[in-house]
Amino acid sequence: MGAIKCIGILTSGGDAPGMNAAIRAVTRSAIYNGLQVKGIYRGYRGLVTGEIKEFKSQNVSNIIQQGGTILKTARCQEFMTPEGRKLAYENMKAENIDALVIIGGDGSLTGARIFAQEFDVPCIGLPGTIDNDLYGTDTTIGYDTALNTIIDAVDKIRDTATSHERLFFVEVMGRDAGFLALNGAIASGAEAAIIPEFNTEVDQLEEFIKNGFRKSKNSSIVIVAESEVTGGAMHYAERVKNEYPQYDVRVTILGHLQRGGSPTAHDRILASRLGAAAIDAIMEDQRNVMIGIENDEVVYIPFSKAIKNDKPIKRDLVNVLKELSI
Ligand code: F6P
Repeated sequence: MGAIKCIGILTSGGDAPGMNAAIRAVTRSAIYNGLQVKGIYRGYRGLVTGEIKEFKSQNVSNIIQQGGTILKTARCQEFMTPEGRKLAYENMKAENIDALVIIGGDGSLTGARIFAQEFDVPCIGLPGTIDNDLYGTDTTIGYDTALNTIIDAVDKIRDTATSHERLFFVEVMGRDAGFLALNGAIASGAEAAIIPEFNTEVDQLEEFIKNGFRKSKNSSIVIVAESEVTGGAMHYAERVKNEYPQYDVRVTILGHLQRGGSPTAHDRILASRLGAAAIDAIMEDQRNVMIGIENDEVVYIPFSKAIKNDKPIKRDLVNVLKELSI
């Protein structure tokens, strides 16, 4: 196993339900395997400022069911500079931390990759983001919970949409990835999803209007992935108001409530499995890989692949939504 005796763990980027279950799993699995564990607070910022505390098994008691992250999280500008990363390395050494486990999304793993290259520090990444946009894992920690939050909300919106015979645009998260919007639409029986992957390919609003809008339904729900490029749900609602004034249009933006809540069974199990696998990877002298689960098997994906490769949207899901919304 080399000289690894102590690991540091941090959560970074947007929080996701199940991060606490992952912290618990990494901590307990490390202790089980004779390693010391240190919790690093506020993501990379805590590494830069030295907000680090030893974790025993009790520190992670009673958290598997909690949303958010007990380690807090942040998006740290300082860690993006060479000076910030040098400070982080010095703090790591001062705390005798030999390896890091980073739970986060794309940006967090990119930070880990650069840090590992600069200072030869073993880093293991766990995919933690509601967006599900990391290549090399079927799902990411938090995605299933967020999806369930979306369908709960859309079920409620449908009651009022039907009663008033309205067209609702419901905006969900995932600025660069349409997994939440597309699968949220299928699971809630929505009429269409507007997702970033197809923004440049087709006019998705026109498609929806052509294929579904004029049907005999008295109400419709379209799930829109948030987007700074298009302007998201507001933009599409404005377009319909201008081009089809006969329709009664409303917008609901679900926002950050999608990031909260108690993790589903799926996310708790995923996080527990990935957390334990992170320690297995460290014991096997693996470094600079993200742990994923593909086809129910644990896999190690080099950071370069997990970050650079786009996780594709399955076209058959697009067809399912289209066929079932007739
Ligand atoms: O990456 C997770 C995510 O929730 C995205 O879906 C969303 O676009 C973004 O974070 C929001 O970030 P913030 O919490 O900084 O507003």
